[in-house]
Amino acid sequence: MKVTVVGAGSVGATSADNIARKQLCDELVLVDIKEGFAQGKAMDLMQTAQIEGFDTKIIGSTNDYAATAGSHVAVITSGIPRKPGMTREELIGINAGIVKSVTENILKYSPNAIIVVIANPMDTMTYLALKSSGLPKNRIIGMGGILDSSRFRYFLSQAMHCSPNDLQATVIGGHGDKTMIPLTRLATYCGTPVSNYLDAETLKKVAADTMVGGATLTGLLGTSAWYAPGASAGSLVEAIVRDEKKMIPCCVYLEGEYGQSDICIGVPVIVGKNGWEKVIDYKLNDAEKEAFVKSAEAVRNMNDALATLKV
Ligand code: LAC
Repeated sequence: MKVTVVGAGSVGATSADNIARKQLCDELVLVDIKEGFAQGKAMDLMQTAQIEGFDTKIIGSTNDYAATAGSHVAVITSGIPRKPGMTREELIGINAGIVKSVTENILKYSPNAIIVVIANPMDTMTYLALKSSGLPKNRIIGMGGILDSSRFRYFLSQAMHCSPNDLQATVIGGHGDKTMIPLTRLATYCGTPVSNYLDAETLKKVAADTMVGGATLTGLLGTSAWYAPGASAGSLVEAIVRDEKKMIPCCVYLEGEYGQSDICIGVPVIVGKNGWEKVIDYKLNDAEKEAFVKSAEAVRNMNDALATLKV
């Protein structure tokens, strides 16, 4: 098993760290455009191998995709992260060209790879990777819902003073501060509705905090977060390489599911060795359906903006 991570910045390196520690592949190639940077990160990570007890061989490459040949999975984290006050959407101009060329380079050497997109604005970058590559839809997966859902569980656990591990909670819709939809009605604590424990106002605040979860961290850190995004990437790659058939909210191309077509947006999907395999229907109520329509509209506007960029 071979995995490539493009972008050796904080999200890319943390993704690589998680993938190696989970022993998901024999070889992991970290690629970056900055001379020596991926090699440095790879060497630093390799110097944790004996301490962490993993055997994955991590190598760094400066934009030489020949080194990535034969990868089963490629994670695209490249592009610029947001700065405090910026939306993910503002990154589109710079990141679109990067994501398109990275996807081409990956597929040139790994024509069968499953592509995981993390670069923002993630929903539109996933759509771009799909449209520009012409790959079958199941092989392009945008990583956002797993991260947003983990943030949702965090905020719920803080409000409930419980373990995040005892919570089931999902975020669907776009991976944007205004587009994501924390499904409060369906969130459970050990199989019981969280509304048994939290009043409506608290639940509303938890949902609102979740939606700006990434922005809050960007404000605190001065740049975008990396531990949770990297852990989320590791978990998604794990579901693919171990053929887990796990249900994970991911950004995928819809053709009628959830009432939407010709769009990549977050929905619960089953993930395994072929990428995402099927969409699970959560049977949304009317209010949730309406929120999903609004979210899709916003994502679609961003896709239209992409079209005007002519990348
Ligand atoms: C975040 C970035 C990775 O939500 O989109 O932290």
